Amino acid sequence: MRILVACEESQAVTKELRKLRHDAYSNDIVECSGGHPEWHIQKGTLEILNDGWDMIIAFPPCTYLSNAGACRLYPTKGNIDEERYKKGLKGKEFFMAILNADCPKIAVENPVSSLAFEMPKCTQEIQPYHFGHPFSKKTRLWLKGLPELKYTNVVEKEGTFLPSSTSKNAYTGLNDKKTRDPKEASKTFLGIAKAMANQWGGYEEIAKDMYYKYKELCPVKYSFMWGQCSNEYKEAWIAEARIFCLLT
Ligand SMILES: C[S@@+](CC[C@H](N)C(=O)[O-])C[C@H]1O[C@@H](n2cnc3c(N)ncnc32)[C@H](O)[C@@H]1O
Repeated sequence: MRILVACEESQAVTKELRKLRHDAYSNDIVECSGGHPEWHIQKGTLEILNDGWDMIIAFPPCTYLSNAGACRLYPTKGNIDEERYKKGLKGKEFFMAILNADCPKIAVENPVSSLAFEMPKCTQEIQPYHFGHPFSKKTRLWLKGLPELKYTNVVEKEGTFLPSSTSKNAYTGLNDKKTRDPKEASKTFLGIAKAMANQWGGYEEIAKDMYYKYKELCPVKYSFMWGQCSNEYKEAWIAEARIFCLLT
Protein backbone atom coordinates (compact mmCIF):
# COMPACT_ATOMS: atom_id res chain seq x y z
CA MET A 1 0.00 0.00 0.00
CA ARG A 2 1.01 3.64 -0.51
CA ILE A 3 0.88 4.99 3.02
CA LEU A 4 1.30 8.50 4.39
CA VAL A 5 2.39 8.79 8.02
CA ALA A 6 1.65 12.46 8.58
CA CYS A 7 3.24 14.64 11.26
CA GLU A 8 5.86 12.01 11.98
CA GLU A 9 9.46 13.11 12.26
CA SER A 10 10.64 10.04 14.21
CA GLN A 11 9.63 7.66 11.38
CA ALA A 12 8.68 5.10 14.05
CA VAL A 13 5.55 3.87 12.23
CA THR A 14 7.01 4.42 8.75
CA LYS A 15 9.96 2.12 9.48
CA GLU A 16 7.66 -0.62 10.78
CA LEU A 17 5.47 -0.34 7.67
CA ARG A 18 8.58 -0.50 5.44
CA LYS A 19 9.54 -3.78 7.15
CA LEU A 20 6.21 -5.10 5.81
CA ARG A 21 7.23 -3.92 2.32
CA HIS A 22 4.75 -1.05 2.12
CA ASP A 23 5.48 2.07 0.13
CA ALA A 24 5.28 4.19 3.30
CA TYR A 25 6.37 7.82 3.74
CA SER A 26 6.74 9.89 6.87
CA ASN A 27 5.83 13.56 6.55
CA ASP A 28 6.61 16.55 8.73
CA ILE A 29 7.53 20.21 8.37
CA VAL A 30 10.84 19.39 10.08
CA GLU A 31 13.62 17.00 9.05
CA CYS A 32 13.21 13.39 10.07
CA SER A 33 15.24 11.96 12.95
CA GLY A 34 14.59 8.34 12.00
CA GLY A 35 17.57 7.96 9.66
CA HIS A 36 15.67 7.53 6.38
CA PRO A 37 15.37 10.88 4.62
CA GLU A 38 14.61 8.98 1.37
CA TRP A 39 11.26 8.01 2.93
CA HIS A 40 10.50 11.49 4.30
CA ILE A 41 8.40 14.21 2.69
CA GLN A 42 9.32 17.49 4.36
CA LYS A 43 6.23 19.58 3.61
CA GLY A 44 3.01 20.70 5.25
CA THR A 45 0.63 17.73 5.41
CA LEU A 46 -2.21 19.62 3.71
CA GLU A 47 -0.10 19.97 0.53
CA ILE A 48 0.01 16.19 0.03
CA LEU A 49 -3.07 14.99 1.87
CA ASN A 50 -5.18 14.16 -1.17
CA ASP A 51 -2.44 12.58 -3.30
CA GLY A 52 -4.18 9.21 -3.64
CA TRP A 53 -2.92 7.44 -0.49
CA ASP A 54 -4.27 3.97 0.36
CA MET A 55 -3.93 4.71 4.07
CA ILE A 56 -3.13 7.77 6.22
CA ILE A 57 -1.89 7.54 9.81
CA ALA A 58 -1.48 10.97 11.41
CA PHE A 59 -0.10 12.47 14.61
CA PRO A 60 -1.17 16.14 14.32
CA PRO A 61 0.17 18.69 16.83
CA CYS A 62 -1.83 18.94 20.05
CA THR A 63 -0.11 21.87 21.78
CA TYR A 64 -3.19 24.12 21.83
CA LEU A 65 -5.86 21.42 21.80
CA SER A 66 -4.68 19.22 24.62
CA ASN A 67 -6.43 19.12 27.95
CA ALA A 68 -2.97 19.22 29.56
CA GLY A 69 -2.80 22.90 28.52
CA ALA A 70 -6.24 23.71 29.99
CA CYS A 71 -4.76 25.83 32.78
CA ARG A 72 -3.17 28.05 30.13
CA LEU A 73 -6.42 28.18 28.15
CA TYR A 74 -8.22 29.44 31.27
CA PRO A 75 -5.54 31.57 33.03
CA THR A 76 -8.14 32.77 35.54
CA LYS A 77 -11.34 31.00 36.47
CA GLY A 78 -14.04 31.43 33.81
CA ASN A 79 -11.83 33.56 31.51
CA ILE A 80 -10.57 32.06 28.29
CA ASP A 81 -7.29 33.17 26.68
CA GLU A 82 -8.67 34.25 23.28
CA GLU A 83 -5.30 33.98 21.47
CA ARG A 84 -4.75 30.47 22.71
CA TYR A 85 -8.35 29.54 21.89
CA LYS A 86 -7.88 30.76 18.27
CA LYS A 87 -4.72 28.68 17.97
CA GLY A 88 -6.64 25.68 19.29
CA LEU A 89 -9.37 26.20 16.68
CA LYS A 90 -6.68 26.27 13.96
CA GLY A 91 -5.34 22.99 15.37
CA LYS A 92 -8.82 21.48 15.22
CA GLU A 93 -9.22 22.63 11.58
CA PHE A 94 -5.96 20.86 10.69
CA PHE A 95 -7.00 17.72 12.59
CA MET A 96 -10.43 17.65 10.84
CA ALA A 97 -8.87 18.14 7.39
CA ILE A 98 -6.85 14.96 7.95
CA LEU A 99 -9.78 13.01 9.41
CA ASN A 100 -11.95 14.01 6.42
CA ALA A 101 -9.31 13.36 3.75
CA ASP A 102 -10.28 11.43 0.63
CA CYS A 103 -8.74 8.10 1.67
CA PRO A 104 -10.34 4.72 2.51
CA LYS A 105 -8.25 4.08 5.66
CA ILE A 106 -7.51 6.85 8.13
CA ALA A 107 -6.16 6.85 11.68
CA VAL A 108 -5.60 10.09 13.58
CA GLU A 109 -3.92 10.10 16.98
CA ASN A 110 -4.16 12.81 19.65
CA PRO A 111 -4.24 13.14 23.44
CA VAL A 112 -7.38 14.07 25.34
CA SER A 113 -8.38 17.54 24.19
CA SER A 114 -9.94 20.41 26.08
CA LEU A 115 -13.76 20.31 26.03
CA ALA A 116 -13.73 23.90 24.69
CA PHE A 117 -12.84 22.56 21.23
CA GLU A 118 -15.74 20.10 20.93
CA MET A 119 -13.68 17.47 19.15
CA PRO A 120 -15.54 14.58 17.51
CA LYS A 121 -15.93 11.40 19.54
CA CYS A 122 -12.85 9.19 19.26
CA THR A 123 -13.02 5.51 18.29
CA GLN A 124 -10.68 4.19 20.96
CA GLU A 125 -8.40 5.17 23.86
CA ILE A 126 -5.08 3.42 24.31
CA GLN A 127 -2.20 3.57 26.80
CA PRO A 128 1.51 2.78 26.39
CA TYR A 129 1.12 0.06 29.07
CA HIS A 130 -1.18 -1.84 26.68
CA PHE A 131 1.77 -2.19 24.30
CA GLY A 132 4.68 -3.12 26.54
CA HIS A 133 5.73 0.30 27.96
CA PRO A 134 5.07 0.66 31.72
CA PHE A 135 3.64 4.20 31.61
CA SER A 136 0.28 5.86 31.31
CA LYS A 137 -0.25 8.55 28.67
CA LYS A 138 -3.85 8.44 27.50
CA THR A 139 -3.99 8.60 23.74
CA ARG A 140 -7.04 8.74 21.53
CA LEU A 141 -7.52 7.25 18.09
CA TRP A 142 -10.07 8.32 15.49
CA LEU A 143 -10.41 5.53 12.92
CA LYS A 144 -12.06 5.26 9.52
CA GLY A 145 -11.96 1.97 7.60
CA LEU A 146 -9.53 0.49 10.16
CA PRO A 147 -10.11 -1.86 13.11
CA GLU A 148 -9.46 -0.82 16.71
CA LEU A 149 -5.93 -1.67 17.85
CA LYS A 150 -5.71 -4.88 19.84
CA TYR A 151 -3.42 -4.70 22.89
CA THR A 152 -0.19 -6.56 22.22
CA ASN A 153 1.50 -6.70 25.63
CA VAL A 154 -0.28 -5.43 28.73
CA VAL A 155 2.26 -4.62 31.46
CA GLU A 156 2.10 -3.19 34.97
CA LYS A 157 1.93 0.62 34.99
CA GLU A 158 4.80 2.25 36.93
CA GLY A 159 3.64 5.86 36.64
CA THR A 160 2.64 8.60 34.24
CA PHE A 161 4.90 9.22 31.26
CA LEU A 162 4.74 12.99 31.40
CA PRO A 163 5.26 14.83 34.67
CA SER A 164 2.15 16.81 35.55
CA SER A 165 1.10 19.19 38.27
CA THR A 166 -1.79 16.90 39.19
CA SER A 167 0.17 13.67 39.19
CA LYS A 168 2.27 12.76 42.19
CA ASN A 169 3.53 9.51 40.75
CA ALA A 170 5.15 10.62 37.50
CA TYR A 171 7.52 7.94 36.31
CA THR A 172 11.02 8.58 37.58
CA GLY A 173 12.92 5.76 35.86
CA LEU A 174 12.79 7.54 32.51
CA ASN A 175 15.49 9.84 31.37
CA ASP A 176 14.26 13.22 32.65
CA LYS A 177 15.50 14.97 29.53
CA LYS A 178 13.18 12.83 27.46
CA THR A 179 10.03 13.80 29.34
CA ARG A 180 10.97 17.48 29.48
CA ASP A 181 11.80 17.86 25.80
CA PRO A 182 8.40 18.07 24.03
CA LYS A 183 9.86 16.78 20.75
CA GLU A 184 11.33 13.70 22.44
CA ALA A 185 8.18 13.15 24.50
CA SER A 186 5.92 13.22 21.44
CA LYS A 187 7.73 10.44 19.55
CA THR A 188 5.52 7.37 19.10
CA PHE A 189 6.27 4.45 21.45
CA LEU A 190 7.83 1.54 19.58
CA GLY A 191 5.21 -0.95 20.88
CA ILE A 192 2.40 1.26 19.54
CA ALA A 193 4.20 1.84 16.23
CA LYS A 194 4.60 -1.92 15.77
CA ALA A 195 0.94 -2.58 16.63
CA MET A 196 -0.22 0.07 14.14
CA ALA A 197 1.96 -1.30 11.35
CA ASN A 198 1.24 -4.98 12.01
CA GLN A 199 -2.49 -4.63 12.61
CA TRP A 200 -3.30 -1.98 9.98
CA GLY A 201 -0.66 -2.86 7.41
CA GLY A 202 -0.17 -6.55 8.20
CA TYR A 203 -1.01 -9.48 5.99
CA GLU A 204 -4.60 -9.70 7.19
CA GLU A 205 -5.33 -6.13 6.07
CA ILE A 206 -3.63 -6.75 2.72
CA ALA A 207 -5.59 -10.01 2.38
CA LYS A 208 -8.83 -8.14 3.12
CA ASP A 209 -8.04 -5.56 0.40
CA MET A 210 -7.30 -8.34 -2.11
CA TYR A 211 -10.57 -10.10 -1.21
CA TYR A 212 -12.67 -6.95 -1.75
CA LYS A 213 -10.88 -6.18 -5.05
CA TYR A 214 -11.53 -9.76 -6.20
CA LYS A 215 -15.22 -9.49 -5.21
CA GLU A 216 -15.40 -5.99 -6.73
CA LEU A 217 -17.11 -4.75 -3.57
CA CYS A 218 -16.68 -1.57 -1.55
CA PRO A 219 -14.82 -2.56 1.66
CA VAL A 220 -16.56 0.15 3.69
CA LYS A 221 -20.14 -0.61 2.57
CA TYR A 222 -19.63 -4.37 2.79
CA SER A 223 -17.26 -4.39 5.78
CA PHE A 224 -19.33 -7.18 7.45
CA MET A 225 -18.51 -9.66 4.66
CA TRP A 226 -14.88 -10.27 5.65
CA GLY A 227 -16.06 -10.88 9.21
CA GLN A 228 -18.46 -13.53 7.97
CA CYS A 229 -15.77 -15.54 6.12
CA SER A 230 -14.59 -18.74 7.79
CA ASN A 231 -11.13 -18.78 9.37
CA GLU A 232 -9.90 -21.28 6.75
CA TYR A 233 -11.06 -19.00 3.93
CA LYS A 234 -9.40 -15.96 5.55
CA GLU A 235 -6.16 -17.96 6.08
CA ALA A 236 -6.16 -18.81 2.36
CA TRP A 237 -6.39 -15.10 1.49
CA ILE A 238 -3.66 -14.28 4.04
CA ALA A 239 -1.42 -16.88 2.37
CA GLU A 240 -2.16 -15.17 -1.00
CA ALA A 241 -1.23 -11.84 0.57
CA ARG A 242 2.10 -13.23 1.83
CA ILE A 243 2.94 -14.53 -1.66
CA PHE A 244 1.86 -11.23 -3.23
CA CYS A 245 4.16 -9.30 -0.87
CA LEU A 246 7.07 -11.64 -1.62
CA LEU A 247 6.61 -11.17 -5.35
CA THR A 248 6.21 -7.40 -5.41
C1 LIG B 1 2.69 15.63 18.34
S1 LIG B 1 4.07 15.63 17.26
C2 LIG B 1 4.00 13.98 16.65
C3 LIG B 1 5.35 13.28 16.58
C4 LIG B 1 5.24 11.85 16.12
N1 LIG B 1 4.51 11.03 17.06
C5 LIG B 1 6.61 11.22 15.87
O1 LIG B 1 6.88 10.11 16.40
O2 LIG B 1 7.41 11.82 15.12
C6 LIG B 1 3.45 16.60 15.93
C7 LIG B 1 4.37 16.76 14.75
O3 LIG B 1 3.66 17.50 13.75
C8 LIG B 1 4.59 18.28 13.03
N2 LIG B 1 3.82 19.33 12.29
C9 LIG B 1 3.33 20.50 12.76
N3 LIG B 1 2.65 21.15 11.79
C10 LIG B 1 2.70 20.38 10.68
C11 LIG B 1 2.19 20.49 9.34
N4 LIG B 1 1.46 21.55 8.97
N5 LIG B 1 2.46 19.50 8.46
C12 LIG B 1 3.20 18.43 8.85
N6 LIG B 1 3.71 18.24 10.09
C13 LIG B 1 3.46 19.22 11.00
C14 LIG B 1 5.53 18.79 14.11
O4 LIG B 1 6.77 19.19 13.56
C15 LIG B 1 5.65 17.55 15.01
O5 LIG B 1 6.75 16.75 14.66
